[in-house]
Amino acid sequence: MNKTACIVLAAGDGKRMKSHKPKVLMNVLFKPMLGWVLDSAEKTAPDEVCVVVGSGEEQVKKYLESRKGSNYNYTIARQTERKGTGHAVMQAEATLKNSENVLILCGDAPFIDEKTITNALKTHTEGKCGVTVITAVPDNPFGYGRIVRDEKGDLLKIVEQKDASDEEKKIGEINSGAYWFDSKALLEALPKLSNGNAAGEYYLTDAISLIRQSGKRAAVSSAENKLIVLGANSRSDLAALNDYARKRVLKRLMEGGVEIPCKDGVIIGCDVEIGQDTVILPNTIIRGKCRIGSSCEIGPSSLIENCTIGDGVTLNSVQAYESVVESGAKIGPFSQLRAGSHIGQNVKIGDFVEVKNSNIGEKTSAAHLTYIGDSDVGRGVNFGCGCVTANYDGANKFRTKIGDDAFIGCNTNLVAPVEVGANAATGAGSTITKDVPPDSLALERADTRIIEHWEKNKQRKKK
Ligand code: UD1
Ligand code: CA
Repeated sequence: MNKTACIVLAAGDGKRMKSHKPKVLMNVLFKPMLGWVLDSAEKTAPDEVCVVVGSGEEQVKKYLESRKGSNYNYTIARQTERKGTGHAVMQAEATLKNSENVLILCGDAPFIDEKTITNALKTHTEGKCGVTVITAVPDNPFGYGRIVRDEKGDLLKIVEQKDASDEEKKIGEINSGAYWFDSKALLEALPKLSNGNAAGEYYLTDAISLIRQSGKRAAVSSAENKLIVLGANSRSDLAALNDYARKRVLKRLMEGGVEIPCKDGVIIGCDVEIGQDTVILPNTIIRGKCRIGSSCEIGPSSLIENCTIGDGVTLNSVQAYESVVESGAKIGPFSQLRAGSHIGQNVKIGDFVEVKNSNIGEKTSAAHLTYIGDSDVGRGVNFGCGCVTANYDGANKFRTKIGDDAFIGCNTNLVAPVEVGANAATGAGSTITKDVPPDSLALERADTRIIEHWEKNKQRKKK
């Protein structure tokens, strides 16, 4: 028997989004709403996490499999028809049978947080409650289930908007859709739910009266953070959630000493850490899991995704994905680091350079118009303008190796697999197909021919 389980309701479709994706996979700050909910739930370390899937089931399952940094093997419960929140929970019967207390969350309310969940669990267990509902008082309660309390301040019932009387509609306190239930009490109540309401659905919220009737307490845990109730039904709602989340992240970063002189176009995901005195310039997006050191200058117009960046790094108009950049490196403008690149300390990468799946040793320089793919490059190497590692023969990819302090002349093609030894050089314009021993020069170039009086001869022919 598990002590705690979590069930996330994620079967809804969200027609108003007009998307091929199910609603719970719509992004807020580049992360699916379901991801936000799971991240918060998992911080409270439940023994089991079950996700109820329905609309877009395959996409949701694929997302769950792809979740990085999560140690959970999710239990999947399938709801084949949307018959309401109570019906959705019934599909997770096995999870209920296997736990003492269960946390139920909506997959489309991304701002539920760890503290709100643990506070509610405290109320729930200390009060030996059958159910504890997390509530909030939003600016506008329209559309939410209203909290009706008894004379002791406990929860009497939840009335949905569609079913509420004029008096009940005036209640400002609403059901966030997040609850702790005593699993056994919920299991007993679920088969008794009816769909005799305005929506014709099996409401999870009706379990509350049933649990009270069985003699158990129904408590309320009011959340300090009223954003926890916010969900999104439309693209405009989603934009509003993005706006909240974005401002909150920027505020947190600035409080930690990050300099953001102008917030225009600066969008930073919630799993990004940035050190103090780093400056973020306009039009910069940093997303996924990123760690950026201190005293860097990132932007303008950069996109950084799942990267680790050291201290004092400059990334000016750079696109960088799944890569590591060591301290003191200067990259840009207009260059790209594709996945699997490791850029050493004090490397200089200038304009229109692409690096892919390569290691670049410290103090190496590739200042202009160069492609370095599937390569292991030593320290202090100099790439002239326009060098290319030809890593692909149309069928297979091969690696290029370049030793320390090598000098790769302008417009060199290095046809992989090939190795240039330490301190070796290649002549400008050479296409190198054989390994170059250390300290030697490789030159592959026809001698320059001079044809004298060429212009005069041409003019004579014309006449
Ligand atoms: C629900 C609550 C309401 C609360 C509100 C908070 C009920 C009856 N009402 O209303 O009191 O104020 O949440 O946002 O529970 N889902 C399924 N299967 C279904 C129906 C829903 O998985 O058959 C999922 C949805 O994907 C969603 C969640 O359950 O993640 C909530 O469903 P939704 O239809 O949005 O409930 P509300 O009407 O908002
Ligand atoms: Ca909803």
